[in-house]
Amino acid sequence: MDNRPIGIFDSGVGGMTVLKAMKEKLPEENFIYLGDTKRFPYGSKSKQTIIELTKNGIDFLLKQNVKLVVIACGTATSQALKEVQNNYQVPILGVIEPTVQYIQTKQKTKIGVIATTGTIRSRGWENAILQQIPEAQIQSIACPLLAPMVEEGWTDNKIAKLVVKEYLKNFEKMDALILGCTHYPLLATVIQKQLGKKVELINAGEHVAVQTQNILQMSEQLADGHSGKIKIYLTETEEKFHQVAGQLLQQDIIIHQVQEETEFI
Ligand code: DGL
Repeated sequence: MDNRPIGIFDSGVGGMTVLKAMKEKLPEENFIYLGDTKRFPYGSKSKQTIIELTKNGIDFLLKQNVKLVVIACGTATSQALKEVQNNYQVPILGVIEPTVQYIQTKQKTKIGVIATTGTIRSRGWENAILQQIPEAQIQSIACPLLAPMVEEGWTDNKIAKLVVKEYLKNFEKMDALILGCTHYPLLATVIQKQLGKKVELINAGEHVAVQTQNILQMSEQLADGHSGKIKIYLTETEEKFHQVAGQLLQQDIIIHQVQEETEFI
């Protein structure tokens, strides 16, 4: 048994979709969330910058005494996870591997991927899928406007519908669409309407939650029978974050501002 918190990291509010899934699966765990809102968006940054920012995020979470870190960001997972994963004493998980494992079990072969520019450039999802499912036919597209729209809380209005329609218009028939950026599950209703019910939308959060549970179970580090707490840190406080995240979690949240000079780097 280990009651230390699980650390979750993203550039903004997107990782809260992972936190939500983790909280549902592991209600007894404590969570510390870090949103690097000061440097959002990550999607347009270089690989080198993403690696540095990811290291800073993990270091901050380790200072909060976490027992495991989830990089709840497709952009950071695809470009930094392999570079940083082995540098730490605690498990560092990303969103790609557990999600691809799930897709493999469902025997999906016609797969779409939408993600940030950096994630698509890295081919992180494609390479992981082809390794597990060599016969997969993958179509992918970068959707750089979607994450900023979600940060703004525009997840179900006219603009969101138009932008989603435009990005998805060239996709051919597929079995499943990977929401390759953790902000995108907040647009799931609009995306599902656009694609129709037959296409399964794949939300990484649920699959990372399963992997986390397995790892903690194996190392006998699950928390004991109390209801877990959530603590949220942002590098820049955002009113919109409060609104979007509160709605998503269906609870009022308290946000702590990271004191960068002393706590962050
Ligand atoms: N939520 C992030 C992802 O999964 C990134 C959005 C961004 O910072 O551009 O890729």
